[in-house]
Amino acid sequence: METVRQLKKIIEKNGPDRSDYGMLDSLLHNLTDQDFVAIQQSDLLKNADLLKDDKSIMGHIFTKPYGYAGDFHIIDRIYTRNLNNNYVKWDQYSLENSAAQAVRNRKSYFQKLMHKKVKNWTSDKSIELLNVASGPARDLKELYDQLYNKSIINTTCVEMDAKAIVYAQNLNKAHLNHINFIQKNIFRYNDTTKYDVIWSAGLFDYFNDKCFVKVLNKMKTWLTHQGEIIIGNFNQDHNPSRKYMELFGDWFLVHRTKEEMIQLAEKAGFDRKNITVKSEAENVNLFLHIKQG
Ligand SMILES: C[S@@+](CC[C@H](N)C(=O)[O-])C[C@H]1O[C@@H](n2cnc3c(N)ncnc32)[C@H](O)[C@@H]1O
Repeated sequence: METVRQLKKIIEKNGPDRSDYGMLDSLLHNLTDQDFVAIQQSDLLKNADLLKDDKSIMGHIFTKPYGYAGDFHIIDRIYTRNLNNNYVKWDQYSLENSAAQAVRNRKSYFQKLMHKKVKNWTSDKSIELLNVASGPARDLKELYDQLYNKSIINTTCVEMDAKAIVYAQNLNKAHLNHINFIQKNIFRYNDTTKYDVIWSAGLFDYFNDKCFVKVLNKMKTWLTHQGEIIIGNFNQDHNPSRKYMELFGDWFLVHRTKEEMIQLAEKAGFDRKNITVKSEAENVNLFLHIKQG
């Protein structure tokens, strides 16, 4: 199989050179289901050092040292472009593909959104922000670093992984007066506070439709009348890195179309006229925006 031969060549030379990126992108993107399974079951990837060592980006994603895909550590390595010197070529490729760029873009998407809220905020009270599945919370750290009046936003983070919270608290140690971390599975979480903004990225694309609707429906009860929910999800119609994530990283996400996201929001009890879907520059991460109406 020509595809396997080309992939083997790249693995043998410890990763793609920049001049190989186009070829490797299209090779992976055009893999048939049959080729995908054949490569997955072959020794080609199983024997690759890259995937045995969690110090490489893809090795970390594949071996899942914290027990689940998309942990705070790997997300922060993507944010900070933290590559390992033993795997430079592979790490560069992993950090420069569309999905990684989309993850970095979603951080700036969030920050831009919050700066706009702050600019338009007229109340004496703080903006109440709920960040669901906060992970490393680098998005928050940078946001608070940039804010002139930090008290304008009061943040509650709900995060299931205690290690992620320790990491995020350390990263945000200058801002802990304004951020409260709660260790809880969102399915078991209840709240009486009403939030002006509810943000969640990198969570709903792990949910099946039933869980998606269930959590969104809970969020509905936590939203102020003027408030807004924003949910990130990988785009079913566009993710050039999807096969790389799935084949090398064993990282399978539920990709959704814009229309599917709108329909799920309707199922959760929101009115279509209050729902829009936007995307970041790569068009790989979609953002469902919902207002109470
Ligand atoms: C891919 S990371 C996203 C982190 C962050 N939102 C970001 O975009 O940088 C996913 C995070 O969701 C957390 N998580 C997964 N399932 C969860 C649940 N049911 N309740 C709360 N947190 C959850 C994980 O522990 C992990 O930190």
